[in-house]
Amino acid sequence: MAIGVFDSGVGGLTVHRELVRRFPERDFVYLADQAHAPYGGRGGEEIVELTRAGCERLFDAGASVVVLACNTASAIALRRLQQTWLPGERERRGRPVNVLGIIVPTIEAATGLPWEYEADRSGEKIEALEITGVFCTAATAISRVYEIEIDKRRQDLAVFCEPCPGLAGLIELGAPPKELEVVIGDHVDALRRRIGRHPDTAILGCTHYEIVAPVFARLLPEGTPVIHQPTAVADALERYFARHPDYDLGASGRRDFLTTGKPGPQSEMVSQFWGAPLSFAQA
Ligand code: DGL
Repeated sequence: MAIGVFDSGVGGLTVHRELVRRFPERDFVYLADQAHAPYGGRGGEEIVELTRAGCERLFDAGASVVVLACNTASAIALRRLQQTWLPGERERRGRPVNVLGIIVPTIEAATGLPWEYEADRSGEKIEALEITGVFCTAATAISRVYEIEIDKRRQDLAVFCEPCPGLAGLIELGAPPKELEVVIGDHVDALRRRIGRHPDTAILGCTHYEIVAPVFARLLPEGTPVIHQPTAVADALERYFARHPDYDLGASGRRDFLTTGKPGPQSEMVSQFWGAPLSFAQA
């Protein structure tokens, strides 16, 4: 058995790398749905179905817990799958399986509050407004999940989402740094114009963007705090496994990397991020 990590492509590797650091004794299987990447411009029903198929493939490969290392899938598909598909899947497989997302841990990290926290709005007075900028895919922006969930917990934290259509696709293809710099610069600038100033903090709300986090850091005002999704997810998972010791997560050192797309070596950009060449096998 293993921990499964799912993304439309290479973005989830940023989360995978942190999870392996945190749980080195566990087995891991990574699935990139590169045959259908990027997800960000797709419709909701399509994203739900692709995410379901990915989770099913990971359960077949021995995963007992699947981490959706993808904001788009977490925002659009997770709740639906938990409510309508997982109960039957558990029964069918006769073993405990679950799917967890990336947005809850990110919002906990961004607000500094546990997910269960309910703000008492009676007599609430906002002394100072902090602004967080969320760079994300079009589908994540349309879901408004960051605005809604952060506002429920922290009214003093305003959220401005900047959809970056095309950026995940460029990163997936390993586009040249110069091209990425221009595209990211345009988005940082568009967000600044929309807010009227730069955000106080930022969330890279698409796991692909973490691969080019240094470019965002260079283009945002120096020292802008950026929520690190991989750490937030690893922290949350540590707490989750402590509460649920019933999952068999393996311990044989297995590290499988699967793709629904073309198997073989990934881009130079991925190798650089990974620190070594990385090859995916056919799912
Ligand atoms: N890495 C993904 C995310 O976090 C998906 C990007 C895409 O496929 O468009 O949203």
